[in-house]
Amino acid sequence: MEDLEGIIKNTLFVEGPIPFARFMEMALYYPGLGYYTSGQRRTGAYGDYYTSPQAHPVFSALLALQLERMWQLIGRPKTFHVVEAGAGEGQLAQDILSYSRRLEEGFQEALVYIATDLSFGGTRVGEVRFDTPPLLTVASRGLPFHNLRGCILSNELLDAFPVHRLVAKGGALKEIYVTLAGNALVEVLGEVSVPISDLLGVQMSLPPEGSTLEICPQVWEWMAEAARALMEGFLLTIDYGYWDTPKEGTVTSYRRHSTASPYERVGQQDLTAHVDFGAVMEAGRRVGLTPLGLVSQRPFLMDLGLGAFKEAAARLRLPQRQHQANQMAMLDLARPEGLGSFGVMIQYKGGLPFSMGDLALERQVKDRLAAGDLPAPLLSREHIPLVEGRYPHLAWEY
Ligand SMILES: C[S@@+](CC[C@H](N)C(=O)[O-])C[C@H]1O[C@@H](n2cnc3c(N)ncnc32)[C@H](O)[C@@H]1O
Repeated sequence: MEDLEGIIKNTLFVEGPIPFARFMEMALYYPGLGYYTSGQRRTGAYGDYYTSPQAHPVFSALLALQLERMWQLIGRPKTFHVVEAGAGEGQLAQDILSYSRRLEEGFQEALVYIATDLSFGGTRVGEVRFDTPPLLTVASRGLPFHNLRGCILSNELLDAFPVHRLVAKGGALKEIYVTLAGNALVEVLGEVSVPISDLLGVQMSLPPEGSTLEICPQVWEWMAEAARALMEGFLLTIDYGYWDTPKEGTVTSYRRHSTASPYERVGQQDLTAHVDFGAVMEAGRRVGLTPLGLVSQRPFLMDLGLGAFKEAAARLRLPQRQHQANQMAMLDLARPEGLGSFGVMIQYKGGLPFSMGDLALERQVKDRLAAGDLPAPLLSREHIPLVEGRYPHLAWEY
């Protein structure tokens, strides 16, 4: 069997040091052997991390309502495309589609949901039941679409884009490269390999001596592709990242819910960097995507009606353990030091004068829940048993 670490070492032996971004690209996406291309399950209780759609289906229900609202705002078009990029194991797609069946009929009829991921070839798509209309799956690295009217949506996609790591040294920027010392993978500094003046986003000045700056050219390419693909509509990006204060040195490697060195078990553990939302906003602006808002996940979900869904689930009088599991998983989505601190950025392409306030739904959702027009979605076997993971004595039957 081919060994990715051996392939990378061979590349270093032949070519010399490579920028960290290239190492990250190989570790995550080397055909058939990278973390996301080898066909292994990566998320969930027994994976390396879990994401919001796996924590509780209310996350997807709230996004379904947000999409319905977007459809209404742009004039209820006959076809409304939702492209979910980096759909991974498909939980969000599955739950948004299932919840959409309870929403306005015109929206259900208009919805065309396209899930893309570059690694569908490796992961067995059939397993996530990706083949029921209106769902299409497209294995693709970019966004091979045009004339979309709707929303391009991603959850934890941009943090998986490779980053260049730059260090301020002696009044100039140097770049971190990966090289070989004997048989070990080590870091060395070299000349900057990317045109940084265009990519620094909001961070135009030299950072303090010794600090590390990460830049992600793929974010800029992504924004340009999204703007090209959209005729009219929204780009909804959810991820962990920073906006007010630039963060440094955020590259992290995860295995089984703990951090590890990026140079261990290459291709077997996740490698990720926090998203620079300032760069996302600036990159979008330059290609005609107007930023409507950037908030953290907690207020975003609250404005969509998370609190009303919690109350509605509480009114169902579920058995105690099931009640607790649902309430705690819903709280987890808004936990200030956890998923609740993620960034949610909404950008818009088109001629209408929207603001983030137009997208809020709390009042409306409360009324629809009270009138019995919306069901409160509950945890199923497909979601991560968060509560049981932390409190095994609370395990309960679905
Ligand atoms: C951190 S996972 C998130 C998966 C899923 N969105 C979720 O929330 O559970 C990132 C996913 O993005 C995919 N990916 C990375 N770069 C991509 C690209 N340029 N185009 C499409 N998918 C990409 C990876 O294969 C992986 O499945």
